[in-house]
Amino acid sequence: MRKLVDMDALTPGIARGFRARGGTVILVRDGETVSAFRDSCPHLGVDLAWNPDAYMDLENRYIQCATHGALFEPLTGECVFGPCIGDRLTPVEVVLRDGSVWIDG
Ligand code: FES
Repeated sequence: MRKLVDMDALTPGIARGFRARGGTVILVRDGETVSAFRDSCPHLGVDLAWNPDAYMDLENRYIQCATHGALFEPLTGECVFGPCIGDRLTPVEVVLRDGSVWIDG
């Protein structure tokens, strides 16, 4: 088990990326819970952001794919707009412990 980040370092509703499992894992905090996804668009399997941590759309409402503009609900990963509508980001299992986010591997 490896610590990714302290919960207090995550801004609620704003996605951030962390190197883990040979790629990047995106975390989105919601109160005292956190959602985690692989940084991979279900449309073509590419990274979602062109720049580090530039995951959100202009209104900070959705995770946005930089390639074709697909929009994803930040807490569920569901695509609500774009070429992969109805598909989802791939969830990643993380553990919350002692105020931090941890991951296997
Ligand atoms: S690669 Fe993400 S929307 Fe096309």
